[in-house]
Amino acid sequence: MGKLFCREIGFFYEKLKNHIKNTNNFCLTQKPTFRTIHIMNTLTGKNLLDIQSLTTEEVELICKTAKYFKDVFTRSVKSVPVLRGKTVCTLFYESSTRTRISFELAAKRLSADVINVAVSTSSVTKGESLIDTVHTLEAMNADYIVMRHGASLAPHFLSKNIKASVINAGDGNHAHPTQALLDTYSIIEKKGSLKDLTVAIVGDIIHSRVARSDMKAFKKMGAKVILCGPPTLVPDYFNQYDVEISYDFDDTIKKADVINMLRIQKERQTGAFFPSIREYHKKFALTEDRLKKCKNGVILMHPGPVNRGVEVSNKVIDSPNFIMNEQVTNGVAVRMAIFYLLAGGVPFEDVNEVQEA
Ligand code: NCD
Repeated sequence: MGKLFCREIGFFYEKLKNHIKNTNNFCLTQKPTFRTIHIMNTLTGKNLLDIQSLTTEEVELICKTAKYFKDVFTRSVKSVPVLRGKTVCTLFYESSTRTRISFELAAKRLSADVINVAVSTSSVTKGESLIDTVHTLEAMNADYIVMRHGASLAPHFLSKNIKASVINAGDGNHAHPTQALLDTYSIIEKKGSLKDLTVAIVGDIIHSRVARSDMKAFKKMGAKVILCGPPTLVPDYFNQYDVEISYDFDDTIKKADVINMLRIQKERQTGAFFPSIREYHKKFALTEDRLKKCKNGVILMHPGPVNRGVEVSNKVIDSPNFIMNEQVTNGVAVRMAIFYLLAGGVPFEDVNEVQEA
């Protein structure tokens, strides 16, 4: 790690320190050393491709760093120069609203230059291969590539062929690690920890990269996971993940501390997985009646976009327990934390520099 980068981090700390002093809530007592940076942050210079490649400590580190960013930046939005001079390229081969914007905002708050490649208007439509597109980006010195692709493992392939750090923003039905990290963060924010919680993930599990990454992240952090839906959408082979499978939503809601509702992904379904949307809604939608039967203090989540009236009713969306918009806010903080840590940022709590005044 170069001297210049250390100066950047030092400058970032100065800015944070001033900001925090001005807001009168925190004080920084110690500036991190070069050694601390090197030892504590095991994510430096890596890719972020899936949850199974992260240790429990790394997930904790990302969540703690995200909390720090959220605390600071929701009080007064400021850019910090952590990624100044770096280029982040978002390369989305599938449609997205919140994930792409969230990455863009996170990168901009860290002062990166951001290039958004909309594949539908790029040379991909002229037949350019993935690898040639990527080499073009590399020739422009992109430092981070945030990739969404319809094919599972496309970001893994990319990471083996490029110097830049690759962040997986969703690949096929395989993985969506940053969604799982922001979901993990959102649960910890509400409940303090995932340890011994029961989390139900409900709906179109078979087509969902969110379900696959969420269950791995939640289990890693000590939760029990129930996958719930019709047998066609929750096939037996999910047993290999050491989760409970349920086809009875009414029974599942009695046990769950957290319920994560998934969208029916029509665009990925190749056959008829249930008789009709009406039938599905009757058995698996989170309705007002079902909300009354949930545990006290239940957290209701959804990665978005939501199909109103299909998997969740309008009344439930308006309930204070339904935290979809908070998940979006947390997504920016979590993605800032990821960029910060991949860039070699100092773990805030390990150097013990933040104390309540
Ligand atoms: C999810 C996705 O794209 O996998 N959405 C998201 O990232 N916010 C889930 C979905 O599309 O239903």
